[in-house]
Amino acid sequence: MKHLIDPTDLTKEEIDQIVALAEDIIAHRERYQGSMAHKKLATLFYEPSTRTRLSFTAAMMELGGQVLGFSTPQSSSVAKGETVQDTVRVVGCFADIIAMRHPIEGAPQVASEVSQVPIINAGDGSHSHPTQTLTDLLTIKRELGHIDDITIGFCGDLRFGRTVHSLIKALSRYHGIKVVLIAPDELRLPDYIKQDVCDKMGVAYRETDNLDEAIPELDVLYMTRVQKERFLDEDEFDRVKDSFVLDARRMGLAKEKMAVLHPLPRVNEILTEVDDDPRAAYFRQVENGKLVRMALIISLMEWKNDPAHTMPEHDSPIVNSALHCSNPKCICNNEKHERRFRLAENGITRCWYCDSKVR
Ligand code: CP
Repeated sequence: MKHLIDPTDLTKEEIDQIVALAEDIIAHRERYQGSMAHKKLATLFYEPSTRTRLSFTAAMMELGGQVLGFSTPQSSSVAKGETVQDTVRVVGCFADIIAMRHPIEGAPQVASEVSQVPIINAGDGSHSHPTQTLTDLLTIKRELGHIDDITIGFCGDLRFGRTVHSLIKALSRYHGIKVVLIAPDELRLPDYIKQDVCDKMGVAYRETDNLDEAIPELDVLYMTRVQKERFLDEDEFDRVKDSFVLDARRMGLAKEKMAVLHPLPRVNEILTEVDDDPRAAYFRQVENGKLVRMALIISLMEWKNDPAHTMPEHDSPIVNSALHCSNPKCICNNEKHERRFRLAENGITRCWYCDSKVR
C-alpha cells in the first residue's frame, strides 16, 4: 500500500503522473465526476487549517465521494488521551483513505505504520507538507510551463516552514534547479535539508538576507509566513516577524515572467497591492491544491493493491533507547514509541520520525 508521509515516498515518475492527472482533470473535469462514488475520505485535523482541509473535502466531493472527520481534536476522543495509532485503527474501519494534520512531527508516520488504509500527511509540525508540495509543483508547471531548469527563491521562515522543506526535497529530483534561500539568521533552512537533500542531490543553493539583491534572478519567488505558533520564545518571534515584505516596488525588480507563490495564509509578508499583478499566482495556487488532491486521491486509491506502487525501501532504523531525539515536538517525545534513528550519509544520527539531531 502507498501512503504519502514525505514527498520522497513518491518516485519522480509518480509525482509527474499525479501532476499530469491533475492537468487531465482540468481539461476533462466531467470524466472524473463520480470516480470516488461510495468511497469515504476521513480528514483528521489536530491543528487549524482552511485550504488543506477544505480542498481535500471539495476534492472528494467533486469526485462523488463522501467525507467524515474532525477539524479540532477537542471534538474527538483524542481529548480523552487516545493515541494517534489507536485513532487511525478506528477511523480505518469507517473510511477508505485518511488525510491527517498534526502539530506533532512524525504523527502521520506512526499512523501509517498501523493503518489499513492509505494515510496522507496533510502537514506535521514544522516537518513536512507533501500535498502542498504537489500543489506547488502543479502551480509552477502551469505558470512557467516546466519544472526543470528554474531558479527559485524561498523567502521568510525557512526554519519552521514545512512547505519549504518538502518542496526542496521534491525539486531536488528535477534537473537544473537553483535555490536561493532568503532569510534572517534566526530563520535559516535546517541543516538536514541543506546537507541531506541539497548537498546529497547536487542542488545548487546560496543563502542571503537581501530580497532586493536576490529577486532579479528568480523564476519563482516562494514567500512564507513567519509562523508564530512554532516559536518557543515570543521575543525571538517579535525580532523576526517583519523580516521581508513583498510590495509593488520589489515586484518592479523582478523578471516579467516570475511567478509569486505562497502556501497561505499570509499575514503581512505580501502587501495586497501585489495581488493584481499577473505574476501573483498564490490564489491560482489554492485552486490547484484542490485539483492535485483530486489526482492524489484517485492515484492512492488505484495504487492501494498494486505491487508496482509501494513505499520506498529505507535502510533499517537504528533502534536505541539510550539515544534521545532533541525535538520536544517529535512524536517519540509525546507518545510511547520505539526510539528509532537513521544514520545520514554525513555521519550525523537523526531521528527516524522528525529528522532532528540526537542528543
Ligand atoms: N497552505 C496550507 O496548508 O494552508 P492551511 O493551513 O489553511 O491548510
